[in-house]
Amino acid sequence: MSFKINENVTYVGKIDWELRKFHGEELSTHKGTSYNSYLVRGSEKTALIDTVWKPFAEEFVSNLKKEIDLKEIDYIVANHGEVDHSGALSELLREIPGTPVYCSKAAVKSLRGQYHQDWNFKPVKTGDKLNLGDRELIFVEAKMLHWPDSMFCYLTENNILFPNDAFGQHYASEHMYNDLVDQDELYHEAIKYYANILTPFSKLVTAKIKEVVSLELPVEMICPSHGIIWRDDPLQIVNKYMEWADAYQENQVTIIYDTMWDGTRKAAEAIAKGIKHGNPEITIKLYNAARSDINDIVTESFKSRGLVVGSPTINKGILHSIASFMETAKGLNFQDKKGCAFGCYGWSGESVKLINTLLDEAGFELINEQGLRMLWNPDEEAVAAANAYGQEIGKALAN
Ligand code: FEO
Repeated sequence: MSFKINENVTYVGKIDWELRKFHGEELSTHKGTSYNSYLVRGSEKTALIDTVWKPFAEEFVSNLKKEIDLKEIDYIVANHGEVDHSGALSELLREIPGTPVYCSKAAVKSLRGQYHQDWNFKPVKTGDKLNLGDRELIFVEAKMLHWPDSMFCYLTENNILFPNDAFGQHYASEHMYNDLVDQDELYHEAIKYYANILTPFSKLVTAKIKEVVSLELPVEMICPSHGIIWRDDPLQIVNKYMEWADAYQENQVTIIYDTMWDGTRKAAEAIAKGIKHGNPEITIKLYNAARSDINDIVTESFKSRGLVVGSPTINKGILHSIASFMETAKGLNFQDKKGCAFGCYGWSGESVKLINTLLDEAGFELINEQGLRMLWNPDEEAVAAANAYGQEIGKALAN
């Protein structure tokens, strides 16, 4: 696919309508994605920014040939080494061997480590420039946003920021511009992307945005490497990132549980009623972790003030869907959130204590050090206790 963004920049990427899982099976992509690649023509030189995921390498190079004689590509810029952007480099560089590849020093390592090729690497650092004649590309390293090799580049005269993964979304749309798509869909995918990929690096996000803003470069467009291009009020997504990076939360609590014979589910619902009673304003969402998409749960967790996590005890432990969620939550390093635990048991009953430990290790402030343990299936008295526990949670999250 190709289309002109302006006189100098042509989109030459690939919309992947079919993709439903990314990073192996780790990240759901309900609305597909795109791998954005941009051809930038200056008065004297032409640069290609990023490529596409490997399964589309042949198609990408074939389409690129319709847009330009490959020999006219003077420079390749690899803003990031991950395969969804570097996957067509082998195919492309077989056609135009020796073409310089501009990337961060760390990307030389990541690209060599993945492709085992000694391409003509030109490592660059923040402030380095690539002259295209009447305009230039300025490089800005963006270490750990989200890999050590990540880099942004900025095209002068057209005033376009190419931030690679940052400000992207896994969102396939033939419209390709932010002002043409459904805003709810766009922001749902943008916050899901942030919550699941960038949350651990929030402090770096804030620092990098401040650094780029301090350069006082005008930004007329932001062209990320996934999803739509921000051309209408492009800084809106930068401002959103500043909010999301600052221990973001809405007035929401998410109850995440798994259940074997419905006891822990009944408790979850009784806790939800109690929260509503204790804090009528708060939005309450319930997810059975075994039956829900973990990345959707992460997104709702990211938006929450607190999480209430429940599992019955099994084999002196917790159910695997809750273990999986807690491992994910620990890695994401959410900031300034509260948490508490609950669960049913028949005899040994370790689950609540274990969940509390996992919440603590993941950085949550515990609302109740004991949690709520319920022997066998909750009877009326136990349901009332769960309701009272919910009221305590609701009040704790009102502050
Ligand atoms: Fe879209 Fe980090 O790759």
